This record gives sequence, C-alpha cells and structure tokens, in this order.
Amino acid sequence: MAQSPLVFISRRLPTSCLELLERAGCRLRVHDSEVAPSRHELLEGVAGCDAVITLVSDRVDEEFLDKAGERLRVVANYAVGYDNVDVGACSRRGVLVTNTPDVLTEATADQAFMLILAVARRALEGHRLVASGLWQGWHPLQLLGQDVSGATLGIVGMGRIGAAVARRAGAFGMKVLYHNRSRRPEAERQLDASFRPELPALLEESDIVSLHAPLTTETRHLIDAAALALMRRHAILVNTSRGPLVDEVALLEALREGQIWGAGLDVFEDEPRVTPGLAELDNVLLAPHLGSATERTRREMAGLCARAVIAVLAGELPPNVVDE
Ligand code: GLV
Repeated sequence: MAQSPLVFISRRLPTSCLELLERAGCRLRVHDSEVAPSRHELLEGVAGCDAVITLVSDRVDEEFLDKAGERLRVVANYAVGYDNVDVGACSRRGVLVTNTPDVLTEATADQAFMLILAVARRALEGHRLVASGLWQGWHPLQLLGQDVSGATLGIVGMGRIGAAVARRAGAFGMKVLYHNRSRRPEAERQLDASFRPELPALLEESDIVSLHAPLTTETRHLIDAAALALMRRHAILVNTSRGPLVDEVALLEALREGQIWGAGLDVFEDEPRVTPGLAELDNVLLAPHLGSATERTRREMAGLCARAVIAVLAGELPPNVVDE
C-alpha cells in the first residue's frame, strides 16, 4: 500500500485544519509553535513532504524546493499575499501555490478602518491619559484629532480589501480616491470612487491614505521620502498590506518632523523588528500584523489551506491557485 502523504505545517494552526487533513488520511509534521521556525528548521521540516502549509514569514525559494524534494505538489500559503513564495520556481517544478483570499477581506478592512479611526481620534493617547490617573477632566483643547467623516480617503490598491475599505468609507461620508495598476470602472460605479492614474495626485489630495497593494518590485518603497513630502500635513497613512511598501526610516522622519500627522501600521519592513524610534512617537499606532486576526477568519483561512492540500493530493485543482 502506498504511504499516506506527508504534510508539513510551519506553525501552530487552528486544530480544525489538522483534523481535516488527518481525516483525509494525511500524516502531519507540525512546527507546533507560535514562533517562526528558523531557516534550518523550516528546511528540515519540508524535507520529503508531499504538501506544505506556509506562512508569510517562510521564504519558499529554490533552496526550499530542493530541500522539499520531488514529492512536493502543493504550497498552501496561509495568507492572501504570497510575496514570500517564488511562484515561478514552484511552477517550473509542477508545484501548485494556493492562498487564502476572500475569507479575510472584511477582517482586514476592519483593521484598516480601526487604525484610521484610532489614529485620527488619538485613541491610544486617550487611553494612556485615563489609565495614568493624571486626567484632570474634559477641556476644549484636549487631544484634538482629525475628522474621519467627510474626509478624503486615498486607497492605494483597489483589490478586494481596498474595495471593502471603500465601502466602509461610504458609510462615513468620505470622498474616495483610488490608485491602481488598472482602472476599475465597477469600483467607480459601485463605490463612488475616483481613479487617480498617478500616485502623486492621490497623495496630494487625500486626508487619509490606506495601502492595499501587494508587495512586488514595483510597490517596494512606493511610499518613500518623496511620496511622504507630497502628503498633506494633517494626513494619516495606514498600512495593512505589506511593510516594505513603506520606507520605514523615511516615515519615521516624516512623523517626527510633522510632515504628516500620523500613521497606523499593521505591517513592518522587517517583521517582527520595528525601526527604532517609531514606537516612541505619540502619533503612531502599531499593531502586530493582525489584519486577519479574528477567530472566524483564521479558522476559515486554515480550512482553505487544508482543503487546497487535500484537493491537490487527490489530483484536483483547488479554487485558490495563484500564478506569477
Ligand atoms: C496576511 O498578511 C495576508 O496576506 O493574508
């Protein structure tokens, strides 16, 4: 009898995912930790596997694929973004790559909106003041923020998550601008969003800029010192996409100098490291990459990964295969 397929899972995942795979007859090798495996542990873990479930912090490249060996048929990435995976290298070896779209759209848009509101209304400073016991009572000039209702929101990357943020903006009476590789007429119709083919125009016009583009060679440091210099002095930058879209050192400088008003960051250039100095500022809110972190969303992401693995091992094509 052929040996049952071996699946490597690079982190502790919701148990429902493990149960699905076990019921389908898979053997599991789990890096059962909340901490990322070292490169060595990752490469040891994937050796001889038929399938792997990876996270955004696991680099899937030629070395990884060499180490996994010829049995490998699918890399199920536990994320919608797959910039950690060399998809070309996988396809050259006949290895399918899948991701977890749709199920995390609303949770991530909620997180972006949470950052927008919390930075604009200085939620963290307010909390610290009350919690410190030093609050001396209401006064007219205390912790004044920026209006979100009626503001102009610039969305960079009008994909599923960008569109979900635009829907929320509609309820706040915001004017929505968007910049995207290609024009999205249906977004313009449904979300009353206006296209800005050039990023500088969007940056100059927006009160709040929210990033939702994937990380590619074109989007790395899309928001650099020059881009920040175009933003309004009362503007807020929110990033729930990928850290390297923003030049973090340039952002630190812009925040320190009051070149922009504030920032909400869910992602960082070199996670889990954060550029020294950023955490000390009052006008930033930092979150540890929690965009999709709700119980339901993380369960559904795990279910998508497990079902993709099971489908590929059964010779079927899962719905969420990605290409280059
Ligand atoms: C998380 O960062 C994702 O891409 O889903």
